Amino acid sequence: MRIDILTLFPQMFDSVFNYSIIGRATERGLVTIRLHDIRAHTHDKHHIVDDYPFGGGYGMVLKPAPIFEAVEAITKELDMSAVPTILLSPQGRLFNQKAAQQLANYEQLILICGRYEGVDERVAEHLATDEISLGDYVLNGGEVAAMVVVDCVVRLLPGVVGSEASVIHESYAEGLLEYPQYTRPAEFRGWAVPPVLLSGNHAQIARWRRQQSLSRTAQRRPDLLEKAVLSEEDKLFLNEIGIHKN
Ligand code: 6GU
Repeated sequence: MRIDILTLFPQMFDSVFNYSIIGRATERGLVTIRLHDIRAHTHDKHHIVDDYPFGGGYGMVLKPAPIFEAVEAITKELDMSAVPTILLSPQGRLFNQKAAQQLANYEQLILICGRYEGVDERVAEHLATDEISLGDYVLNGGEVAAMVVVDCVVRLLPGVVGSEASVIHESYAEGLLEYPQYTRPAEFRGWAVPPVLLSGNHAQIARWRRQQSLSRTAQRRPDLLEKAVLSEEDKLFLNEIGIHKN
Protein backbone atom coordinates (compact mmCIF):
# COMPACT_ATOMS: atom_id res chain seq x y z
CA MET A 1 0.00 0.00 0.00
CA ARG A 2 1.09 3.55 -0.67
CA ILE A 3 -0.05 6.37 1.63
CA ASP A 4 0.51 10.04 0.85
CA ILE A 5 -0.02 12.50 3.68
CA LEU A 6 -0.47 16.26 3.21
CA THR A 7 0.45 18.30 6.24
CA LEU A 8 1.96 21.57 7.40
CA PHE A 9 4.13 19.60 9.82
CA PRO A 10 5.75 16.62 8.10
CA GLN A 11 8.32 16.21 10.88
CA MET A 12 5.57 15.36 13.37
CA PHE A 13 5.29 11.93 11.76
CA ASP A 14 8.93 10.87 11.91
CA SER A 15 9.03 9.05 15.23
CA VAL A 16 5.67 7.33 14.91
CA PHE A 17 6.34 5.98 11.42
CA ASN A 18 9.96 4.95 11.93
CA TYR A 19 9.52 2.50 14.78
CA SER A 20 7.93 -0.78 15.66
CA ILE A 21 5.27 -2.25 13.38
CA ILE A 22 5.01 0.62 10.89
CA GLY A 23 8.79 1.04 10.73
CA ARG A 24 9.24 -2.65 10.01
CA ALA A 25 6.38 -2.74 7.48
CA THR A 26 8.06 0.17 5.66
CA GLU A 27 11.47 -1.54 5.69
CA ARG A 28 9.92 -4.68 4.27
CA GLY A 29 8.20 -2.75 1.50
CA LEU A 30 4.68 -3.63 2.66
CA VAL A 31 3.77 0.04 2.89
CA THR A 32 5.27 3.23 1.47
CA ILE A 33 4.42 6.41 3.33
CA ARG A 34 5.19 9.76 1.72
CA LEU A 35 4.85 13.06 3.54
CA HIS A 36 4.10 16.24 1.61
CA ASP A 37 4.47 19.73 2.99
CA ILE A 38 1.40 21.74 1.98
CA ARG A 39 3.51 24.89 2.24
CA ALA A 40 5.69 23.69 -0.63
CA HIS A 41 2.68 24.25 -2.90
CA THR A 42 2.39 27.98 -2.30
CA HIS A 43 3.69 30.47 -4.86
CA ASP A 44 3.94 33.70 -2.86
CA LYS A 45 7.09 35.01 -1.22
CA HIS A 46 5.88 34.28 2.31
CA HIS A 47 4.43 30.82 1.57
CA ILE A 48 1.09 31.68 3.10
CA VAL A 49 -1.24 28.72 3.61
CA ASP A 50 -4.08 30.33 5.59
CA ASP A 51 -6.29 33.38 5.48
CA TYR A 52 -9.12 35.09 7.37
CA PRO A 53 -12.56 33.50 7.19
CA PHE A 54 -15.07 35.19 4.89
CA GLY A 55 -17.91 36.50 7.02
CA GLY A 56 -15.62 37.09 9.97
CA GLY A 57 -15.03 35.03 13.06
CA TYR A 58 -12.17 33.61 15.05
CA GLY A 59 -9.07 31.97 13.71
CA MET A 60 -7.68 31.27 10.30
CA VAL A 61 -8.77 28.97 7.50
CA LEU A 62 -6.50 26.86 5.31
CA LYS A 63 -6.57 28.13 1.72
CA PRO A 64 -7.77 25.69 -0.91
CA ALA A 65 -5.12 26.20 -3.62
CA PRO A 66 -2.03 24.71 -1.91
CA ILE A 67 -4.04 21.63 -0.87
CA PHE A 68 -5.55 21.10 -4.33
CA GLU A 69 -2.13 21.51 -5.94
CA ALA A 70 -0.45 19.14 -3.49
CA VAL A 71 -3.04 16.42 -4.21
CA GLU A 72 -2.82 17.02 -7.96
CA ALA A 73 0.98 16.72 -7.85
CA ILE A 74 0.59 13.27 -6.25
CA THR A 75 -2.12 11.94 -8.55
CA LYS A 76 -0.20 13.21 -11.59
CA GLU A 77 2.97 11.50 -10.41
CA LEU A 78 1.10 8.26 -9.80
CA ASP A 79 -0.95 8.64 -12.97
CA MET A 80 -4.01 7.89 -10.85
CA SER A 81 -7.22 9.83 -10.90
CA ALA A 82 -9.35 7.94 -8.39
CA VAL A 83 -7.26 7.61 -5.23
CA PRO A 84 -9.36 7.73 -2.05
CA THR A 85 -8.63 11.20 -0.69
CA ILE A 86 -9.49 11.57 2.97
CA LEU A 87 -9.79 14.82 4.86
CA LEU A 88 -9.16 14.39 8.59
CA SER A 89 -11.53 16.73 10.39
CA PRO A 90 -13.94 16.75 13.34
CA GLN A 91 -16.78 17.01 10.79
CA GLY A 92 -16.03 13.59 9.29
CA ARG A 93 -17.70 10.25 9.73
CA LEU A 94 -16.53 8.39 12.81
CA PHE A 95 -13.46 6.20 12.42
CA ASN A 96 -13.71 2.65 13.72
CA GLN A 97 -12.32 -0.81 13.03
CA LYS A 98 -14.74 -1.37 10.16
CA ALA A 99 -13.63 1.88 8.51
CA ALA A 100 -10.00 0.78 8.96
CA GLN A 101 -10.74 -2.57 7.32
CA GLN A 102 -12.36 -0.84 4.36
CA LEU A 103 -9.41 1.51 3.89
CA ALA A 104 -6.98 -1.42 4.13
CA ASN A 105 -8.46 -2.80 0.89
CA TYR A 106 -7.13 0.08 -1.22
CA GLU A 107 -3.72 0.13 -2.87
CA GLN A 108 -3.32 3.85 -2.26
CA LEU A 109 -4.63 6.49 0.12
CA ILE A 110 -4.20 10.23 0.32
CA LEU A 111 -4.70 11.81 3.75
CA ILE A 112 -5.16 15.56 4.20
CA CYS A 113 -4.48 16.97 7.66
CA GLY A 114 -6.57 20.00 8.55
CA ARG A 115 -5.27 22.71 10.85
CA TYR A 116 -6.22 26.04 12.37
CA GLU A 117 -9.92 26.76 12.70
CA GLY A 118 -10.71 24.83 9.58
CA VAL A 119 -10.12 24.06 5.95
CA ASP A 120 -11.82 25.90 3.10
CA GLU A 121 -15.01 23.91 2.47
CA ARG A 122 -14.19 23.48 -1.23
CA VAL A 123 -11.55 20.92 -0.19
CA ALA A 124 -14.22 18.76 1.45
CA GLU A 125 -16.67 19.39 -1.40
CA HIS A 126 -14.54 19.04 -4.51
CA LEU A 127 -11.25 17.36 -3.60
CA ALA A 128 -11.75 14.91 -0.75
CA THR A 129 -13.71 11.73 -1.44
CA ASP A 130 -14.13 11.00 2.26
CA GLU A 131 -13.97 12.89 5.56
CA ILE A 132 -13.02 11.11 8.77
CA SER A 133 -13.06 12.09 12.45
CA LEU A 134 -11.62 10.11 15.34
CA GLY A 135 -14.32 11.04 17.83
CA ASP A 136 -16.18 13.77 19.61
CA TYR A 137 -13.30 15.85 20.85
CA VAL A 138 -11.11 18.51 19.27
CA LEU A 139 -7.49 17.93 18.29
CA ASN A 140 -5.18 20.76 17.29
CA GLY A 141 -4.95 19.31 13.83
CA GLY A 142 -5.41 16.25 11.67
CA GLU A 143 -1.83 15.03 12.11
CA VAL A 144 -2.44 12.92 15.21
CA ALA A 145 -5.63 11.61 13.60
CA ALA A 146 -3.73 10.65 10.43
CA MET A 147 -1.21 8.76 12.59
CA VAL A 148 -4.06 6.85 14.19
CA VAL A 149 -5.63 5.99 10.84
CA VAL A 150 -2.30 4.87 9.36
CA ASP A 151 -1.49 2.82 12.46
CA CYS A 152 -4.84 0.99 12.32
CA VAL A 153 -4.77 0.43 8.56
CA VAL A 154 -1.14 -0.71 8.26
CA ARG A 155 -1.47 -3.42 10.87
CA LEU A 156 -4.32 -4.92 8.84
CA LEU A 157 -2.20 -5.27 5.68
CA PRO A 158 -1.22 -8.87 4.88
CA GLY A 159 2.09 -9.86 6.44
CA VAL A 160 2.49 -6.79 8.67
CA VAL A 161 1.51 -8.31 12.01
CA GLY A 162 3.09 -11.67 12.84
CA SER A 163 -0.04 -13.72 13.21
CA GLU A 164 -3.01 -12.82 11.03
CA ALA A 165 -5.17 -14.70 13.53
CA SER A 166 -4.21 -12.27 16.27
CA VAL A 167 -5.46 -9.35 14.16
CA ILE A 168 -8.76 -11.05 13.47
CA HIS A 169 -9.37 -12.02 17.10
CA GLU A 170 -8.75 -8.58 18.51
CA SER A 171 -11.33 -6.46 20.23
CA TYR A 172 -13.82 -4.87 17.86
CA ALA A 173 -12.98 -7.29 15.06
CA GLU A 174 -15.42 -9.65 16.79
CA GLY A 175 -17.59 -6.94 18.27
CA LEU A 176 -16.68 -7.66 21.90
CA LEU A 177 -13.92 -6.37 24.17
CA GLU A 178 -10.96 -8.67 24.67
CA TYR A 179 -10.57 -10.96 27.66
CA PRO A 180 -7.82 -10.13 30.20
CA GLN A 181 -4.31 -11.44 29.51
CA TYR A 182 -1.67 -12.53 32.02
CA THR A 183 1.94 -13.64 31.80
CA ARG A 184 4.51 -14.87 34.29
CA PRO A 185 4.85 -14.75 37.22
CA ALA A 186 1.72 -16.65 38.27
CA GLU A 187 1.71 -14.55 41.44
CA PHE A 188 2.88 -10.93 41.45
CA ARG A 189 2.88 -8.87 44.67
CA GLY A 190 0.31 -11.23 46.10
CA TRP A 191 -2.01 -11.01 43.06
CA ALA A 192 -2.58 -14.41 41.53
CA VAL A 193 -3.43 -15.17 37.92
CA PRO A 194 -6.93 -16.72 37.54
CA PRO A 195 -6.30 -20.43 38.28
CA VAL A 196 -8.21 -21.65 35.21
CA LEU A 197 -5.43 -20.24 32.99
CA LEU A 198 -2.91 -22.55 34.65
CA SER A 199 -5.18 -25.60 34.44
CA GLY A 200 -4.13 -26.75 30.98
CA ASN A 201 -7.82 -27.42 30.22
CA HIS A 202 -8.18 -25.65 26.88
CA ALA A 203 -11.95 -25.97 26.61
CA GLN A 204 -12.37 -24.46 30.07
CA ILE A 205 -9.91 -21.67 29.25
CA ALA A 206 -11.76 -20.84 26.05
CA ARG A 207 -15.07 -20.71 27.93
CA TRP A 208 -13.63 -18.52 30.69
CA ARG A 209 -12.20 -16.12 28.11
CA ARG A 210 -15.47 -15.87 26.22
CA GLN A 211 -17.31 -15.17 29.46
CA GLN A 212 -14.77 -12.51 30.43
CA SER A 213 -15.24 -10.84 27.02
CA LEU A 214 -18.99 -10.93 27.47
CA SER A 215 -19.12 -9.62 31.03
CA ARG A 216 -16.61 -6.86 30.47
CA THR A 217 -18.35 -5.74 27.27
CA ALA A 218 -21.67 -5.73 29.13
CA GLN A 219 -20.19 -3.60 31.90
CA ARG A 220 -18.02 -1.21 29.94
CA ARG A 221 -19.53 -1.07 26.46
CA PRO A 222 -23.18 -2.13 26.47
CA ASP A 223 -23.50 -0.39 23.09
CA LEU A 224 -21.13 -2.98 21.57
CA LEU A 225 -23.02 -5.87 23.12
CA GLU A 226 -26.18 -4.69 21.39
CA LYS A 227 -24.55 -5.21 18.00
CA ALA A 228 -22.52 -8.36 18.80
CA VAL A 229 -23.31 -11.76 17.36
CA LEU A 230 -24.12 -13.99 20.36
CA SER A 231 -24.53 -17.77 20.62
CA GLU A 232 -27.21 -19.42 22.75
CA GLU A 233 -24.48 -20.25 25.27
CA ASP A 234 -23.43 -16.58 25.36
CA LYS A 235 -27.00 -15.50 26.07
CA LEU A 236 -27.41 -18.11 28.80
CA PHE A 237 -24.26 -16.83 30.48
CA LEU A 238 -25.37 -13.20 30.21
CA ASN A 239 -28.74 -14.13 31.71
CA GLU A 240 -26.93 -15.87 34.59
CA ILE A 241 -25.01 -12.68 35.40
CA GLY A 242 -28.17 -10.63 35.21
CA ILE A 243 -27.97 -9.22 31.69
CA HIS A 244 -31.07 -10.23 29.85
CA LYS A 245 -30.76 -11.12 26.18
CA ASN A 246 -33.33 -12.92 24.11
CL1 6GU B 1 -9.69 14.08 12.31
N1 6GU B 1 -9.23 16.42 13.44
C1 6GU B 1 -9.30 17.29 14.45
N2 6GU B 1 -8.74 18.50 14.31
N3 6GU B 1 -9.92 17.03 15.59
C2 6GU B 1 -10.45 15.83 15.72
C3 6GU B 1 -10.41 14.86 14.72
C4 6GU B 1 -9.77 15.20 13.56
N4 6GU B 1 -11.04 13.76 15.14
C5 6GU B 1 -11.46 14.04 16.37
N5 6GU B 1 -11.12 15.28 16.72
